[in-house]
Amino acid sequence: MNDYDQIIHALNQRGWSISDGAVPQAWCGELLAAAREQWEAGAFEPGEFGLDPAGGRQPEVRGDAICWVQPGSDIARHAFFDWMARFRAVLNDRYGLGLRSQEFHFARYPEGRGYRKHLDQHRGRNVRKVSIVLYLNEGWDAAHGGELALYALTNPELEVQRFTPIAGRLAVFMSGLIPHAVLPARATRWSVAGWLRTDERA
Ligand code: OGA
Ligand code: MN
Repeated sequence: MNDYDQIIHALNQRGWSISDGAVPQAWCGELLAAAREQWEAGAFEPGEFGLDPAGGRQPEVRGDAICWVQPGSDIARHAFFDWMARFRAVLNDRYGLGLRSQEFHFARYPEGRGYRKHLDQHRGRNVRKVSIVLYLNEGWDAAHGGELALYALTNPELEVQRFTPIAGRLAVFMSGLIPHAVLPARATRWSVAGWLRTDERA
């Protein structure tokens, strides 16, 4: 099985996949350098949740800052995004998911912050079908926390497993099905996260 097959097999079985080594480790250093550059340039903004502009910024609920990968920018040409476009094509060919676009952002959680349990689809909107997170943290210690916690598809109260956000680890899950949370981190936590969508790019 190739890497896409392993991920797709796991998605079919349980709605989520965690893989180490599916993408080249070198990409993590390159993407982290790009993320840090954007951070230093002041290009990050607070993460929001839901569609209500008044209620969407609560660092106690969602504590990261994000920077969108702008289409046409230098970093948008990174091989990681091509890899995702090919993955999207494979999902469309095999399952007719009708994934027509993708969007990604860098995310930085400062010490002490996380993201409470949620689904990645806004109420009444289901264009985000598949969620992707690639972790960029070299030398992350388990004691630093910041795990991705996944909950049961059939019972959001039931935690299934936790994953440490180590560099090279790739999480893929069905956006509308898998409740998940980011547990508070005790070090700065970097990732590139995004969605495969059924609409055209906004
Ligand atoms: C998100 C999210 C998980 C992670 O950005 O919506 O749930 O492990 N991220 O960073
Ligand atoms: Mn999420």
